[in-house]
Amino acid sequence: MDHFLYRDGALYAEDVPVAEIAAEVGTPFYLYSTATLTRHFQLFDDALSGLPHLVCYAMKAASNQAILRTLADLGAGMDVVSGGEYARARAAGVPGERIVFSGVGKTRVEMREALAGGIRQFNIESEPELEALNEVALSMGVVAPVTVRVNPDVDARTHAKIATGKSENKFGIPISRAREVYARIAALPGLEAIGIDVHIGSQLTDLEPYRQAFEKVGDLTDALRADGHDIRRLDLGGGLGIPYTRGNEPPPLPMDYGKLIAETLGDKGCEIEIEPGRLVAGNAGIMVSRVIYVKSGEGRDFLILDGAMNDLIRPAMYEAHHDIVPVVEAEAGIEYRPYDIVGPVCESGDTFARQRMMPPLEAGDLVAFRSAGAYGAVMSSEYNTRPLIPEVLVNGHQFAVIRPRPSFDEIINRDTLPPWL
Ligand code: LLP
Repeated sequence: MDHFLYRDGALYAEDVPVAEIAAEVGTPFYLYSTATLTRHFQLFDDALSGLPHLVCYAMKAASNQAILRTLADLGAGMDVVSGGEYARARAAGVPGERIVFSGVGKTRVEMREALAGGIRQFNIESEPELEALNEVALSMGVVAPVTVRVNPDVDARTHAKIATGKSENKFGIPISRAREVYARIAALPGLEAIGIDVHIGSQLTDLEPYRQAFEKVGDLTDALRADGHDIRRLDLGGGLGIPYTRGNEPPPLPMDYGKLIAETLGDKGCEIEIEPGRLVAGNAGIMVSRVIYVKSGEGRDFLILDGAMNDLIRPAMYEAHHDIVPVVEAEAGIEYRPYDIVGPVCESGDTFARQRMMPPLEAGDLVAFRSAGAYGAVMSSEYNTRPLIPEVLVNGHQFAVIRPRPSFDEIINRDTLPPWL
């Protein structure tokens, strides 16, 4: 459920007409709903209410300071994957003890920054990383809390580009080698193993792969404890999918996911951590764009929008589907027609949808891409020197620009000429 609904024929974001924001901010832009972000975070928090837990928002999904601050104020922790994300989380007021550091390629500089600034734990993904972190921690005279991300070799049944829990993926350490790796950690004075981490993929629409992974983590918890390790925290990653297409069967709810966690791991006496990104932010954001031209091609009509693949890459990159709806609600009974919906970038891949049934649209009309809050703005680029589009946050009757559109001068002045030019 989200807060982008039609009222009297106009699309609203909470209590603000989307067209009003478009008139003030210009198109295209991202628009987020505070009420939806809050609701989605709380669904997870409630789903785990029976267990000691921390919901660490995977901020790679949407990392604007205003979004982070909104979630941090609700008690969220953060899952970060770079020094930049760590700095963003701290800037948004998240204390180090609520930040977990994930990712396969943490550098020594990033490790040092996080250890100096405060960190809840590092989720270690390889043996060389383990040795590096030990060295960094020792050089600073501290002990780094770690979990090992185990790769449970389960099929997450999602898009190949976002599945991470099979043995052929680059992520984690094979679960079969985990006991050896924890023994190595116990021998390293700069590290303390406090738990286990697992993340099997993104946009999961079925709980079964989670069940398989969590059962393996449960068995590993017992085995590691028998080996003498004090396993007290289980980080179960993120990945729960969202409904991208209205009318399709929705993915499992956070409540059911929470029940599965309690069922499979609730008796271990561990603190549970999860790292949801998409489900928190995805349906809390839309991208609003304007039709520049309606072009009649041979046998097909194109809607050429002012938004493009550089603003929302998911359709080009993953063949992802986003519902695209008119900001002025279609009249009841009006006949829909097929359009190819494209952006102005000079590539055929700049296509959001082919033969999508839409009400008749004209130049100047506004459309909204639904479910664009996660992996939307954060994956955008300035390809074709198209400025990064603004982000706007709605809260009830209020809205605010939370990242302005840069001017061409700002973009150009980031370049510097070498002395010989
Ligand atoms: N934890 C780890 C270690 C992750 O790698 C990810 C996502 C998450 C948590 C959050 O997963 P979520 O709850 O958002 O599914 N750009 C792609 C998605 C990439 C996901 C990468 N890792 C897309 O647009 O679909």
